[in-house]
Amino acid sequence: MPSRQIPPSAAALIESLRGTGYSLETALADLVDNSIAAAASSVDLILEWNEGNPFVIIADDGAGMMEDCLVEAMRFGGAGPAITRDPHDLGRFGLGLKTASLSQSRRLTVCSKRDDVTTTFCWDLDHIRKTGDAWELLEGLPQDVAHLAASLSGRPSGTVVIWDRIDFGRLRERPTLKGFLAGIERVERHLAMVFHRYLGGDARRLRITINGVRIKAWDPYLEDHGATIPRPEQTLDSGGERIRVRGFILPHPDRFTNATALEAAGGPNGWAAQQGFYVYRQMRLLSAGGWLGIGGTRAWTREEFSRLARIRIDLPNTIDEDWHIDIRKAQARPPEALRPQLERIAGDVRKIARQVFFHRGRRVEVTLPDGITRIWQVNPPPAARRYVIRRDHPLLAMLRDRLGGGSGVLDAALELMERTVPVDRIWLDTVENGPPVAPGRDPEGYSSLLDSARGIVRTMMVAGLDRASAITAVARMEPFDAVPDIVERLTEG
Ligand SMILES: Nc1ncnc2c1ncn2[C@@H]1O[C@H](COP(=O)(O)OP(=O)(O)OP(=O)(O)O)[C@@H](O)[C@H]1O
Ligand SMILES: [Mg+2]
Repeated sequence: MPSRQIPPSAAALIESLRGTGYSLETALADLVDNSIAAAASSVDLILEWNEGNPFVIIADDGAGMMEDCLVEAMRFGGAGPAITRDPHDLGRFGLGLKTASLSQSRRLTVCSKRDDVTTTFCWDLDHIRKTGDAWELLEGLPQDVAHLAASLSGRPSGTVVIWDRIDFGRLRERPTLKGFLAGIERVERHLAMVFHRYLGGDARRLRITINGVRIKAWDPYLEDHGATIPRPEQTLDSGGERIRVRGFILPHPDRFTNATALEAAGGPNGWAAQQGFYVYRQMRLLSAGGWLGIGGTRAWTREEFSRLARIRIDLPNTIDEDWHIDIRKAQARPPEALRPQLERIAGDVRKIARQVFFHRGRRVEVTLPDGITRIWQVNPPPAARRYVIRRDHPLLAMLRDRLGGGSGVLDAALELMERTVPVDRIWLDTVENGPPVAPGRDPEGYSSLLDSARGIVRTMMVAGLDRASAITAVARMEPFDAVPDIVERLTEG
């Protein structure tokens, strides 16, 4: 059959690729991927406003490239998805360097040094627009950015990527200083999250700086916090490859020392948005939070009550198709066959997270009774959604004794309370304003809580209990069980 060669028009295709959906932070993360794949131990980012003509430099101390290699690296779709990658290679499409860079800027210059030879090539969109259809790569360092490649001179090898004529992919809108500074903050938070295992975790160590300031890792699981509950790691089979899954239940808000620590733990997008699955490819985070469409007939959504649940999924770089890894490496979707297992694991984590969320920070041992006397019982079988007052609570049992034949009034009153618990109102308040403050956190609340406990001790003594037994009973009673040194305080007076 006769055939024709119809190569794409360079100008049109590159302009279209600019709209792939990168943001400044996802674009820069894609370049850091390349530095990691080149075995760099440090990546220094400079984002310079430059009086309204911003530029960005990404300099690494990785292996660098010889001329042939750099030319290939500049090719759109160079080493594509079909080739087998080194296990440490974070690349896949052969596009990131070009599409990520040119989504933000109109000129991309790459200088690379290897074996003491420095080579430079440059994609200039304005030049391509003039030449039209030709894929014309410029050779050498443009004069006006030459000084920005200086960091290479002091290194045996490495790569410097320079973006200039930055428009952040917007045709009409000029960048503003305010927007630029906000962008730098987003970049910092994003890289701290995406590469947290490289910056301070279990991956090969990497140092990243932005304008000279070192980025610290943001660990989504707060593994160093004593109140985080890790679940056992599970290994699943995904198309013959092993993937590892581990759930974490984060500490209740009351367990943070101050509001800043609580907010920082929430993450770049806040507590509610950051719950759910965290999918990693070679320890590089692809997607942070969300339930990936899992959850039976009605997929789970990001509810307040499950916001303490975060689940880590570790993938190798050999199952990209099965997981639908997208070009920006910002999305992943689990294959059908794995969904039931992920639902089971996540269901367990969500259940515990919900208990922790509603129990004001007390570490909940789901299977072990904790010996605490509670007045409320939630969903006693066979009721599906009911909150009932325990008739066997010591105080109520005493009251019933006192009332003797008149205890019917007590039961009627209790039942009325149970049937009118303002669940909707409590729910709404919790969603809008966060969970209620635990009683006794402030000095005033603390002393009124103590007074109330002392009152109950006295009542119990009047009813015939000896002092020591009354104190023990009250110390086990919710909410007094959460008061530090409650037994000592009650014994004092
Ligand atoms: N900082 C760097 N140091 C050394 N080599 C690099 C660097 N950046 C890119 N390369 C080389 O250029 C090639 C092309 O990079 P590019 O990001 O375009 O594609 P990729 O990383 O292979 O795949 P992906 O599109 O998934 O990122 C890489 O495979 C790598 O060989
Ligand atoms: Mg890449």
